[in-house]
Amino acid sequence: MRRTTKSQQVARVLFSEAQLSAMVGRVAREIERDYRALGEPPVLLGVLNGSVVFLSDLMRALEIPCDVDFVAVQSYRGERSTGAPQLRLSPKTPLAGRHVLVVEDILDTGVTLSYLCREYLPQFDAASVKLCALLDKPSRRLPGAVCADYAGAVIPDLFVVGYGLDYDEAYRDLPYIGVLSGAPEHKE
Ligand code: XMP
Ligand code: MG
Repeated sequence: MRRTTKSQQVARVLFSEAQLSAMVGRVAREIERDYRALGEPPVLLGVLNGSVVFLSDLMRALEIPCDVDFVAVQSYRGERSTGAPQLRLSPKTPLAGRHVLVVEDILDTGVTLSYLCREYLPQFDAASVKLCALLDKPSRRLPGAVCADYAGAVIPDLFVVGYGLDYDEAYRDLPYIGVLSGAPEHKE
């Protein structure tokens, strides 16, 4: 989908910049409370590419120290749902004994994060693994999939873009989260 302006084909704003900022602050306070009690800085493990904007705001909002690393997972979605997720980039930080907080843009069916948390990450013997998703879209969650320990907002079954979230790699640069008009799935 080509566009000539940043907001082209965005039907409406779901979360403004101000709302996102408040959301990130609220999640950061929850994370601080829990990880201060543990006494060890967490490793924020961002899932590329969608989490980068949220992660960069979250790490700056946190008033506790943290380390940052990344994983990349190839997921298959919608009609391309032909295979299991595959890891494309592994973390460089030794995770053994660390408290790992996986940071993701959106938890949808849960396939990606269930793979990461249950199949990929256990080999590292982390002290704990928790999940933080900016958005939680529970309507399409598969039975038995992982849940978010921290979520900025629960949203209905809409295809959303911006603030790191893409449609075919476009729209990640929007500073707000919008609902796309004309996306093949979850169209308004
Ligand atoms: P699953 O289904 O594995 O999906 O939980 C997680 C990944 O799917 C992408 N996703 C979206 N991307 N708008 C997007 O831009 C959406 O509404 C949406 N829903 C799912 C996203 O990459 C997420 O990491
Ligand atoms: Mg993603």
